[in-house]
Amino acid sequence: GTPDAHVPRDPRLIRLTGVHPLNAETPLSVLFDSGFLTPPELFFVRNHGEVPEVLDEDVLDWDITIEGLVENPITLTLRQILSDFEQITAPITLVCAGNRRKEQNQIRKSQGFSWGAGGVSTSLFTGPVLADIIRAAKPLRSARYLCMEGAEALPNGKYGTSVRLTQVMDPNRGIMLAHKMNGEPLSPDHGRPLRVVVPSMIGGRSVKWLKKLILTEGPSQNWYHTYDNRVLPTMVTPEMSKLDKNWWTDERYAINDLSINSAIAYPAHDEKLVIGPNPEKEKYSIRGYAYAGAGRRITRVEISLDKGQSWNLAEVSYPEDLYRNAPEDTMLFGGRLDVSWRDTCLCWIFWSLDVPVSSLSNAEDIVVRAMDDSMNIQPRDTYWSVLGMMHNSWFRIAIRKEA
Ligand code: MTE
Repeated sequence: GTPDAHVPRDPRLIRLTGVHPLNAETPLSVLFDSGFLTPPELFFVRNHGEVPEVLDEDVLDWDITIEGLVENPITLTLRQILSDFEQITAPITLVCAGNRRKEQNQIRKSQGFSWGAGGVSTSLFTGPVLADIIRAAKPLRSARYLCMEGAEALPNGKYGTSVRLTQVMDPNRGIMLAHKMNGEPLSPDHGRPLRVVVPSMIGGRSVKWLKKLILTEGPSQNWYHTYDNRVLPTMVTPEMSKLDKNWWTDERYAINDLSINSAIAYPAHDEKLVIGPNPEKEKYSIRGYAYAGAGRRITRVEISLDKGQSWNLAEVSYPEDLYRNAPEDTMLFGGRLDVSWRDTCLCWIFWSLDVPVSSLSNAEDIVVRAMDDSMNIQPRDTYWSVLGMMHNSWFRIAIRKEA
């Protein structure tokens, strides 16, 4: 039959590739207006192939295996995962490494399809801490990577990738399995019935429809780990990358932690500013989002109306902190994280800057850049690479004047 016929989808999602598989984002204004927690039906979708169909009566029998460099290889059903492991809930932002690739493709075409700035979404995920599951299999000392594999049959095998084991075992990384999003069972597009959630890293590490966890000495050898989610040196052209496969197997070019990034939701690219009789007195609220990688906190967001000669400091809000300060029993991650966690950020933040409407009508463009607590700052220029990933230069909205 038709692929994905069983999968319900919201008509507001914008398809970025052909009919199948689904790769989609929500219009940035709609995504932004829906708030800190993205409704699951508006959450961006990145599928490499067909969505596995799991009937309601089979959900609890879904199983995963934990094997490789472990003393105690095990198979766990979702039923066991629910009953034998502590369940935690936390807001986590996922970002596709291709977020904002459209701008990069406009500079010079890459091999990837054109994401706008909507390849990012946030949900409250519920499930066990992945480290607890790994501990149950008793990892051997020689294990250094955790390989993860999904269920769908793709042209180059199963979807799979890996993360360093030290990061999986680090409680402050917040790496978990999830069977719920915003309190509802995972929807088919987002990994029903069970997925990995790796906060602060590129979305490609958060394997959906999880079937296998394999502890290994080296990084994943999976085709999708090797030929996807890399930032190759900028001199590598599509032709070179095909001729010389060695570009792909150099693990130094794999990307893991997200790069610092931000975007302007308002004004939108096609928004018409209405200028009233008193543009000096009227205010316009420029607004958008920002995020950082590796659990870092955004420490400032700046807006320029003069092409980067001067910068205005925006106001920043951290909705995630409301969850952090909840009472003991409802606390983020069940309160299992140490004190340094207080500075850790696993979610997007929102920013805003009120300016007189006249300052917008006098400007040619609006640009935004963010900085984090390690002084990472978005660059002015784009680092072009063949897959068009991790684009994070200053985000720009052009202001066009109508006669
Ligand atoms: N897991 C499987 N099994 N198959 C996939 O195609 N895509 C990955 C990741 N996990 C993928 C997967 C990529 S590249 C991203 S960005 C995220 O899932 C997207 O998660 P989402 O569709 O829930 O937003």
